[in-house]
Amino acid sequence: MSGAREARPPAPCASERLKRVAAERAAERVLPGMRIGLGTGSTVAQLLDVLGERAARGELEGIVGVPTSVRTAERARELGIRLAELDEVEPLDLTVDGADEVGPGLDLVKGLGGALLREKMVAQASGALMIIVDESKLVGRLGERTPLPVEVVRFGWRAHMALFRELGSDPLLRRLEDGSPFVTDNGNYMVDCRFPDGMEDPTALEETLRRRAGVVESGLFLGMASAVVVAGERGVTVLERGGT
Ligand code: A5P
Repeated sequence: MSGAREARPPAPCASERLKRVAAERAAERVLPGMRIGLGTGSTVAQLLDVLGERAARGELEGIVGVPTSVRTAERARELGIRLAELDEVEPLDLTVDGADEVGPGLDLVKGLGGALLREKMVAQASGALMIIVDESKLVGRLGERTPLPVEVVRFGWRAHMALFRELGSDPLLRRLEDGSPFVTDNGNYMVDCRFPDGMEDPTALEETLRRRAGVVESGLFLGMASAVVVAGERGVTVLERGGT
């Protein structure tokens, strides 16, 4: 086998290609001088690459990014994207982020990447939240594809498990491969709550979780997305809040 053949980079898998397509479309909305919230995850990694390429061409003069995770901050720095803390530059013009599920009304489940708290804070400080996904993330009912991540303080975390079960889920503390608990950038634990038939009433569920001391935040992002860019094999669709 020739060296040239071996050296050729592997073709990106279908979902990585679609993530890149969604990222390219969202990046078109990023303009010079904007203050941008930068989400977390593999789709956002594609966005960072696109923004880095545009910045290197001098097309994004004066943009400043607010990262939602240590991982995103590290990658953005490598790409030469200027960063700031949320409280230094809010309000933000736009946040671009991924999602684990996109349901009816552009409601979302987020947090499989472990960054839901900072993602929600940054999104709430933004004029608009644009979500980028490949079409595999679209669901008819939230919870039918992925568990709902819930960030909890470490103190007494087991005490929440009965409540999570009462709410209809099978809760599981998220662990690393070595068996130790996953710890968020905020020093908390994450419990993944799987709903066998999806979530019946995400609004009521969010309300209950919000009232629970020790629950920091959940991955339910209800009524927050302004637009969702969906990349599929047949092209890109942009779903807008209030759109038909
Ligand atoms: C990070 O905490 C999550 O909310 C991500 O936005 C979500 O997991 C999407 O990640 P991917 O783009 O890797 O699917």
